[in-house]
Amino acid sequence: MSQAPDYKEAGRRLFAATWDFFHAANSLEVLPAAEGVEIALAGRSNVGKSSLINALTNRNALARTSHTPGRTQELIFFSAGTPLTLVDMPGYGYAKVSDQKVKAWTRLIHDFLRGRVNLARVLVLIDSRHGLKTTDDAVLKTLDKAAVVYQVVLTKIDEIKPAELEKRLAETQAALAKRPAAFPQIIATSSRTGAGMEELRAAIALIVAERSGATS
Ligand code: GTP
Ligand code: MG
Repeated sequence: MSQAPDYKEAGRRLFAATWDFFHAANSLEVLPAAEGVEIALAGRSNVGKSSLINALTNRNALARTSHTPGRTQELIFFSAGTPLTLVDMPGYGYAKVSDQKVKAWTRLIHDFLRGRVNLARVLVLIDSRHGLKTTDDAVLKTLDKAAVVYQVVLTKIDEIKPAELEKRLAETQAALAKRPAAFPQIIATSSRTGAGMEELRAAIALIVAERSGATS
């Protein structure tokens, strides 16, 4: 059920508002109240999670980005005063930080993803140059087990040719078909060029509408 075109305007409005940081949490004990509709961005370190938040919200430096893997070190919550909250997460897989930190983040990521009651969807970001990796499996497994719906967003498509993108889309689609909690629609994006941003905003607006009971 892809109704993205119908929600284009709603998506535009949702992200035309002024988005701001409102909370950072390095453990489950200090999370903000579980209210409203939350959408979290998960993915390997350096895949472009924080950059995607900036592109979605039309803010250059709302979420901190870096060339070096391991930039985002806590769960970072953003809001525009509407029921929607976006959650930037530390990356998994590899990072230029200590093993101890990576372990702590990995635990935090998994605990948050499986336990957060108002998590409406998880956007799992995959670098379009590389596709799904074995390091993504653990997180997808956690989400499948917890029955939290997740949607794959391919990132950095400005770095690859259209034919390679088609191939990546097809192989990712095939891999997801076997996964119980995977949402079938994959969105291909570039935070650098803005490609896919309208589609992603519309998909998010549809989730918000569904959660608020506004769809028929
Ligand atoms: P961690 O917080 O370390 O897990 O990383 P992250 O997933 O938040 O990635 P971040 O947004 O910090 O971006 C990592 C690097 O990828 C930066 O050098 C960005 O400039 C680059 N990048 C992000 N999005 C794009 C994109 O759409 N295209 C290209 N070419 N580079 C991108
Ligand atoms: Mg980040």
